Amino acid sequence: MRLERFQLRGLRCIREMSLDLAPGFNVLTGANGAGKTSVLEAAFLLSHGRSFRSGARDALLQRGASDLSIFSTVRHEDDRLVRLGLGREGARWEARVEGQDVLIGQLVRECAVVCFEPGSHALIAGAADERRRFLDWGVFHVEQDFLPIWRRYQRALKQRNSLLRSDGFADDELFTPWELELARCGTLIDQWRRSYFDALLPHLRNQAQLLLPELGGVELRYRQGWAEGEDLASVLGAQRMRDQGRGHTTSGVHRADWSLSFVQAPQREHFSRGQEKLVALICLLAQARLDAEVRGEWPIICLDDLASELDLDHQRAVVDTLLAAPAQVLVTGTEIPRPLQPSQAKVFHVEQGSVSPLL
Ligand SMILES: Nc1ncnc2c1ncn2[C@@H]1O[C@H](COP(=O)(O)OP(=O)(O)OP(=O)(O)O)[C@@H](O)[C@H]1O
Ligand SMILES: [Mg+2]
Repeated sequence: MRLERFQLRGLRCIREMSLDLAPGFNVLTGANGAGKTSVLEAAFLLSHGRSFRSGARDALLQRGASDLSIFSTVRHEDDRLVRLGLGREGARWEARVEGQDVLIGQLVRECAVVCFEPGSHALIAGAADERRRFLDWGVFHVEQDFLPIWRRYQRALKQRNSLLRSDGFADDELFTPWELELARCGTLIDQWRRSYFDALLPHLRNQAQLLLPELGGVELRYRQGWAEGEDLASVLGAQRMRDQGRGHTTSGVHRADWSLSFVQAPQREHFSRGQEKLVALICLLAQARLDAEVRGEWPIICLDDLASELDLDHQRAVVDTLLAAPAQVLVTGTEIPRPLQPSQAKVFHVEQGSVSPLL
C-alpha cells in the first residue's frame, strides 16, 4: 500500500502542507527543526492513532492553532483507493474513512506504517510495554478479533485492580467473574501472540543475517506474563492476597515480555548502542515482511534520520532490501542518504514547515 496525496494542517510547525508521494522512495531533506520528522509522525498517527514521540497529544497541535488534520489517499496493491483522515477539532479527535466518521480502531486497520526512528532502540533497551505494543500491533493486523478481546481484557483488569484497592477486603466472589474473563481473553491473546512469533521468527532470522551476521544465530524468548504451564484463572485466584498488598494485578498478558538473543550476544546488555538500533530495525523489517506476506502488500516504511542512525554499509543494506521489496519508503535526513541514487527517489525539501519537490 502507499500514500498518494498526503495533506497536513496544524501539525507542529506545519501550518499547511501537501505532498504527492511517489510509490518507491521519498526523501525529505532539510535543516534541523524544519519539520521532516513531523511528516513521518503524521503518517504514523494515521496508522496508529498515536505518535511515536513521547509527550502529550496536545503538543502535536501547532501552537496557537485550534485544530489539526491529516488526510491521505491510500492506494492498495489491487489499485483500490481509500481516503483516510484523522483530525482534532476543539477537544475531540475524529477519524474518517471515505468521509464517514469511524472509531480510531477502524481507521488504523486501513493503513499500516512501520517506523524506524531515533527512539526505536527503546524496543530493545526500553520498558516491556514498548515490546508488547510492537507485538500487539502485529497481532492486531493479522487477527480480526484481537482488538475487541484486548479491550475486554483491559476492562476486566481495571475492574480487578479497583477491587484490589477497595477499602476493606472485597468478597472473593466479586473477583471470580473478572478473573475468569481475564483468563478467557488472556489465554486467547497469548495464543495469538505465540502464533505471531512463530510466523515472525523466520523473518527475524533473515533480517538478522542481513544486518547483524557477526552476532550469529538468533533466538526469540517470550514470557507470557504468568508461570508457564499454569492456568491463568488459578494463578489469579491464588495471588489475590499478594496482589491486594501491591494494589494491582501482577500476572497476566499485560505483564508479558520478549527478547532476542544472539549466539555472540546472549543478553541485551551485550549490544552496543548501534547494535541496539540494528536489532530494533531487524524486528521492524521482519514485522513489515510478515505483514506483506500475510496481507499481500507491503506496509509503508518510514526511516527517520537514516544517515545519522546507521553507518554507510547498514544504510546500503536497508536501502537495497527495500528497493527490491518493493515498498513505499519515506526517509528523512539533512542530506539525501548516500546509498540512494537521485533517480531512485523523489526528493522533497522541507523548510520551516513548508515543502517543495526537488526532483
Ligand atoms: N506544537 C508545536 N507548534 C509549533 N511548532 C512546533 C510544535 N512542536 C514542535 N514544533 C517545532 O516544529 C519543528 C518540528 O521539527 P521536526 O522534529 O519535525 O524537525 P526535523 O526537520 O525532523 O528536525 P531534525 O533534523 O532536527 O530532526 C521544530 O522546529 C519544533 O520546534
Ligand atoms: Mg527529525
